Amino acid sequence: MPVAVGIGLTNECNLACPHCYRPTLTQQRLSIPEVETILDNLDVGSVNLGVGENGVHPEYRDMLALFRERDVKTAITSNGYSLDMLSDEELSGFHSVELSFDFPTKEETDEFRGPGAWEAASESVERCRRLGIPTSIAAVMMNTNFDKMGETARFAFGMGCDLRVNVYQPVIGEEFTLSYEQFWEGFANLFAAGPVVVCSEPLVNAIMGLDSTRGSPCGTRSIRALPAGTIAPCPYWPAAAGVIGHLKNGHDIWNSREFEKSRTLPEACEPCRFRESCGGGCASRRAIRRNLDEPDEYCPVVRGGDEEVERIQKMLEYKLSDPSDVPKAGNACTTVITTPESHPSQ
Ligand SMILES: C[S@@+](CC[C@H](N)C(=O)[O-])C[C@H]1O[C@@H](n2cnc3c(N)ncnc32)[C@H](O)[C@@H]1O
Repeated sequence: MPVAVGIGLTNECNLACPHCYRPTLTQQRLSIPEVETILDNLDVGSVNLGVGENGVHPEYRDMLALFRERDVKTAITSNGYSLDMLSDEELSGFHSVELSFDFPTKEETDEFRGPGAWEAASESVERCRRLGIPTSIAAVMMNTNFDKMGETARFAFGMGCDLRVNVYQPVIGEEFTLSYEQFWEGFANLFAAGPVVVCSEPLVNAIMGLDSTRGSPCGTRSIRALPAGTIAPCPYWPAAAGVIGHLKNGHDIWNSREFEKSRTLPEACEPCRFRESCGGGCASRRAIRRNLDEPDEYCPVVRGGDEEVERIQKMLEYKLSDPSDVPKAGNACTTVITTPESHPSQ
């Protein structure tokens, strides 16, 4: 089965955002042979470049040429730097691009990401749109912006883009961790802004009643090659499952200890009616907190049983972008909403 491979060519970045999960103690870079090993040994359906700002890698353009040569469907998440340095032809080689903002205004974005961050990302959005490259805006939902999800969505729609939201993962600390209430209010705020295209955050998918996830995609449909040369089920997973070289030797990474751990269903979730779709929620979040065997901290079933589930379901009024279709599960825990204008009948 073709899989979504997340690749971080480098952990380096031109910015130093305070929430970022990328490791910063040592410089880490993948080599071209390592990337070739990934392409030669995995059934690669698509590649998404992330972790650091990939354009900082000195062989970034050669790597992009390699993906084009191999006809690999390639996407990138960027702050603009890695796109700005490319020719129109190179940029058009991306299947899609995502620009990170996190906040709906220039002032807030520049304060959070650094001076000039807003302009660089905005210019890239406009250029990519001009070139006809599918472009979306990415935001991380944190305790500092959960109540701005609607505004952020409207900003994205105004730029002609969908909004992709990932929940903050406390890899480097708790400063931006959402409380239970903030998590659900953030999603309610987001869903009020526009119809849902994808929701593969397994807990949210289950509580929405979509039933289109089977736990988190980590370790089943999704695999990450990190700049340190290691393989993990998810970019936030706290331990390596192996090194890229293992892929060459027929090593079954999918059944390695860490991948198996990422598929663990906590015992307390066994009797739950949402267990199939939720799978215990985000395994990385549980693992980062050393609570892999406990249900997801945002679980309303654990918090207050059916009554609490009903309360949350009432908060989460949502529409689907294509009402005849259940939103795609996707290959990473993420939520995408689109502009209500393209769905005027809803
Ligand atoms: C790590 S960055 C790498 C690419 C690029 N430098 C950028 O800013 O998009 C990729 C995405 O991960 C998000 N991100 C960073 N730290 C995160 C965290 N702790 N939890 C969830 N998402 C995070 C960023 O906001 C960004 O949208």
